Amino acid sequence: MEEKGYRIVTMTERDTPEALAFLRKFFFHDEPLNICVGLLDEPGSTCKELEDYCANSVPEGVSLMVLSDSDEIVAVSINGILTRESNKKSEMIEEVNGCKNQKFKKILNLLTTVNIESDVFGRFPDINSLVEIRVLSVDDAHRGKGIAKALINRTRLLAKEKGYDVLKVDCTSHFSALAVASLGGYECIYILKYSDHLDEDGKPVFVPDPPHSCVKTYISRLK
Ligand SMILES: CC(C)(COP(=O)(O)OP(=O)(O)OC[C@H]1O[C@@H](n2cnc3c(N)ncnc32)[C@H](O)[C@@H]1OP(=O)(O)O)[C@@H](O)C(=O)NCCC(=O)NCCS
Repeated sequence: MEEKGYRIVTMTERDTPEALAFLRKFFFHDEPLNICVGLLDEPGSTCKELEDYCANSVPEGVSLMVLSDSDEIVAVSINGILTRESNKKSEMIEEVNGCKNQKFKKILNLLTTVNIESDVFGRFPDINSLVEIRVLSVDDAHRGKGIAKALINRTRLLAKEKGYDVLKVDCTSHFSALAVASLGGYECIYILKYSDHLDEDGKPVFVPDPPHSCVKTYISRLK
């Protein structure tokens, strides 16, 4: 990827406004779940909850972005640290219930379900914290060039350098799941089909266009 004129840099808090502007242009509109709920359907709208989720992750020091030769952002990987302490079921459910944005609440509820059911800390009793990839977004004019794979690889390297034992990625998109699977060294520990995630009336909450059909949780052991 570097030969193609791109470079990966670690994000600092100073990069947050520009990274959020990038995500508003791409991820908020084109990630399968955001499309399903019509996250930004109202003209001029944004999603403060998703912006805060991203902005609050950056100071954790493991988020990355890809810059072009002309220093334009072409991709962002918002990564963060998940701790056993912060991963309490009751607190996560409380956060979902307190979410005021009804569209984002559906997404938060799904991600919380995935987090609880994949039970990564139950699976690895020896770890108390891990790095997770939270938001992965590539400019649509730069897709299919291996940028997402390079970002996942670099995140893995960074997590390892910082002494973490596990990297986790919840893939809501068929393409991000393909990217992770094709890298090797990752294990799919949990799958939730969108057709099995139902609302109170027994109807699927998310009906994304094919080929997106499920969320897959992958983990990679770093030691
Ligand atoms: C998912 C996303 C990050 C992939 O970025 P990308 O830089 O194009 O991905 P890569 O070029 O690294 O491709 C990785 C693998 O994904 C698969 N893939 C990616 N895009 C694909 C497409 N449009 N069609 C088929 N396969 C695709 C390929 O298997 C590819 O591996 P290969 O080249 O070895 O065959 C990008 O499509 C995106 O930003 N989508 C919208 C936001 C989103 O859904 N984010 C992920 C949420 S978890």
